[in-house]
Amino acid sequence: MGVYLNNAATSWPKPRVVAESMANFILKAGANLARGSSSCRDIKTLDMVTDCRANIASLFGGYCDHDPRYVTFTSNVTEALNLVIKGFLRPGMTVLTSSMEHNAVMRPLRHLERDGVNLVVVQCDEKGYMHEEIFEDELKKHMPDLVVLNHASNVCGTLQDLKALCRICRDKGVPIVVDAAQTAGHIPISVSENDIAALCFTGHKGLLGPQGIGGVVWRPDFADRVMPLIEGGTGSFSHEEIQPKRLPDKFEAGTPNLPGIAGLQAALLWADNEGRDKLAEKLNELGERLLKGLMHIDEVILYGPMNMADRLPVFALNVKGIDNAKLALDLDERWGIETRPGLHCAPRAHMTLGTFPEGALRVSIGPFNTNDDIDVLLDALSTLVRESRG
Ligand SMILES: Cc1ncc(COP(=O)(O)O)c(C=O)c1O
Repeated sequence: MGVYLNNAATSWPKPRVVAESMANFILKAGANLARGSSSCRDIKTLDMVTDCRANIASLFGGYCDHDPRYVTFTSNVTEALNLVIKGFLRPGMTVLTSSMEHNAVMRPLRHLERDGVNLVVVQCDEKGYMHEEIFEDELKKHMPDLVVLNHASNVCGTLQDLKALCRICRDKGVPIVVDAAQTAGHIPISVSENDIAALCFTGHKGLLGPQGIGGVVWRPDFADRVMPLIEGGTGSFSHEEIQPKRLPDKFEAGTPNLPGIAGLQAALLWADNEGRDKLAEKLNELGERLLKGLMHIDEVILYGPMNMADRLPVFALNVKGIDNAKLALDLDERWGIETRPGLHCAPRAHMTLGTFPEGALRVSIGPFNTNDDIDVLLDALSTLVRESRG
């Protein structure tokens, strides 16, 4: 059995109940959503989807007493971000983002820039951190219509001070959209306490669900200002030929990924049962062990914060004299260790860290990793360093 250290790409393994719940849905329920005769199976399916919305709303401190209607399901965070960004921004508007964003944010924004949206990219420091004073100055200078920021970097794990950044946006009356791809499930976030206009999440990373499910948690007044990306059948208001304005129907035309929702729901219940604090503590301890070990290997260049308080257990590193793609290949072929080399769909983040265009090796820990996994990686890296010295 190998060592999986690529959890920032997708968490693996998943809790067993995720697969069981998806199989159960297909084998035993399997009805469509709001497109049946109100049979038992129809009602079970509707209840399952509503329960999952309610759990997501409660996990992220949703508005209106965690009203499940303000949770939209999409197929992943990329679709969620496209929905919010393209549904809100119009030519002539200004949007502010950071230099640490994933292409799920950068590409839609660059596309809109070509169509006449004014894009401001605020530079983070060489550890990937957005300084509050710089952010506030840029906000005052440009008075954007929208801010889009990630909560933590998918490249080097740097955590932003989301509370402080949200406070600044609230004081200036600017809606903030958060890409929580890397933090959802790991770090508690409350949309209502922080006045977040839209929080975008993906189900298959820290939430431990399957691929193919993600979504948005909305602030109701902001959702009213966003146009749907996709229009069509919702199983509701069928006498009308225009898209319903009511949520969740407004943003959910077409049959949703119901097996994906079943899997996500099982993952949410599993993590609640295990204890989210306990899972987070374990990740932190494993991260601490890896961080200390990496700092003791001279040839390792580590990017991002040097303490666990300011980061996720997602590490970007290079080893002097060894190309990071070769490093990833050797780790996999000789020790069965899975990592991810290259640019991680975030070229500007690598420019910020000083690792563009060669990139870095990313090592990312998940809740099923063990101390042994970390030690196997550290031993393997030490061996490769020794061998490269000749
Ligand atoms: C910060 C960030 N945003 C967006 C994404 C895109 O995620 P998905 O492929 O699930 O849409 C990722 C995935 O790595 C990410 O880390």
